Amino acid sequence: MLIRPARAIKGEISLPGDKSISHRAAIFAAMATGESRIENFATSADCASTLKCLRQVGVEVRQEGPAVRIQGVGKSGFVEPAEPLDCGNSGTTMRLLAGVLAGQSFESVLTGDDSLQKRPMGRVIDPLTAMGASFESENNRAPLRVLGRNPLRAIEYQLPVASAQIKSCMLLAGLNSDGETAVIEPVPTRDHTERMLRWFGVDVLETNLAGGKRISVTGTAQLTAADVVVPSDISSAAFFLVLALSLANSDLRIRNVGSNPTRAAIVETLRNLGADIRTSNERELNNEPMADIHILGGMGQNSNPVIKGKVIANLVDELPILAILGTQLQNGLEVRDAAELRVKETDRIAAVVENLRRMNADVEEFDDGFRVGKSDLKGARVDSFGDHRIAMAFAVAGLLATEGETEIVGAESVDVSFPGFFEVLHDVVVYE
Ligand code: S3P
Repeated sequence: MLIRPARAIKGEISLPGDKSISHRAAIFAAMATGESRIENFATSADCASTLKCLRQVGVEVRQEGPAVRIQGVGKSGFVEPAEPLDCGNSGTTMRLLAGVLAGQSFESVLTGDDSLQKRPMGRVIDPLTAMGASFESENNRAPLRVLGRNPLRAIEYQLPVASAQIKSCMLLAGLNSDGETAVIEPVPTRDHTERMLRWFGVDVLETNLAGGKRISVTGTAQLTAADVVVPSDISSAAFFLVLALSLANSDLRIRNVGSNPTRAAIVETLRNLGADIRTSNERELNNEPMADIHILGGMGQNSNPVIKGKVIANLVDELPILAILGTQLQNGLEVRDAAELRVKETDRIAAVVENLRRMNADVEEFDDGFRVGKSDLKGARVDSFGDHRIAMAFAVAGLLATEGETEIVGAESVDVSFPGFFEVLHDVVVYE
C-alpha cells in the first residue's frame, strides 16, 4: 500500500461496528436462551473468528447483511468441538472463550495465528485453574487444551494487570460457578461486559473498595436473548480524528460512535491538546452510550503532554496513533505506564519506534512507553508487523508526511479490525 502526503480530510464517514462490543454480543447471545439479533455487527476478521468458534461448539449463527442472528444454547449448553477452535489473531476471542469453556463439562482446544500463539495466556489460565478447570499448554501460550468443569468453584480474584479481557473471562466463568465469583479491578478498564451482561438479564454487582472496584456475578444467573445495536468503533474513529486534527483545513463528521466513558478517553485527550471536537445526538442503546462526532482541523498550543497512569487502560488501543500525533505537536508527546503494549498483536512500542525512526522522527523508546518529538515525517518503507493498528497508524503518518511516499508492508492486516479502512480513507482525503 502506497500513501502520499495529504492536505485535509473532509466529509462524513461511517465506520464498522465496535469490535469489543461485537465479540461480547455474540458470546453472550450464544450463552442465552432464545434468539438474539445483533445489528451493525463488526465486519472485523477478529469478530468473524468468534462466530466461527461459536459455530464449532454448536451455536447456530446466521448472517443477515450487517446483522447477525444467534440461537442461544444456554450458558452451559455448548457441545464438545471436533476440531481445535481457531481464534485467528484475536486475543479477546481466546481469553473470553477460555472463561466460557472452562465451565463446560468437556475438553476443547483454543488456538490462533503466530501472533496469538506468542501472547501471554497465564493471566487467564491461573485464575481459571484456581476455579477448578485444568489446562495443558506449553509455557502458558496457545494452543491451550481446556479441561472444563461444571460447576466451577466460585472465587474472588484481584486482577494483576488492568485488562478487560481477564475481567470478562472471569465473569463469564463465574456464570458457571457454584456461588458468587468476583473480580477486583484496581484500575477501571472497558466495562462493556458489565453493561451487556445486564442487558442480557444478569445481575452484575459492583462495589467500590479502597483498592478498586469489586465486580461480581453468581452461578445462578441466567442469560435471556436480547437484541443489540452495536455502535461504531471509537478505536477505528481515532485514526480519523488524529488525521483531521493534524490537517488544518479538515472538517469531518462520524455518526453513531460509541462514547462509553471507559473508551472515550481518546476524545478527552485530543480536546486537552486543543482539538475542536463537538458531539451531538448523544443517546444510549442497549446500555452503551453513543454520539455523532464533528471535528475541525487544527489545534491550539499545548503544553508538554505526558500520558500515563490510570488513563492508559482507557486509551490502550489508541496509543499507536497518539505516537503519530506526537510528531505534529509543538512539544511532542510522551507515553508511560504502557508496558502492556509490548504484549499486543505485536510489540507496539518497538513497532512504533522502529517505523517512526524510518520516517525521520525524533523518538525515544522506554520499557513502558515512548517519547516522540515534533518531527517532519518523510515517506519511507514501514512495516505493519502484522498488526492492524500499526498499519492504520502508519497510513496516517504517511498522509502527514511533509514529503515522499510511504509504503506499508503488510497493509492487509487492517482487516483484523477494519476491512475497508483504505477505501474510507480514500473517500475523505483531499490532496491538493
Ligand atoms: C479488549 C481489551 C483490551 C484491548 C483489546 C480489546 C476487550 O485488551 O487492548 O483490543 O475487548 O476486552 P486487554 O484486556 O489485554 O487490555
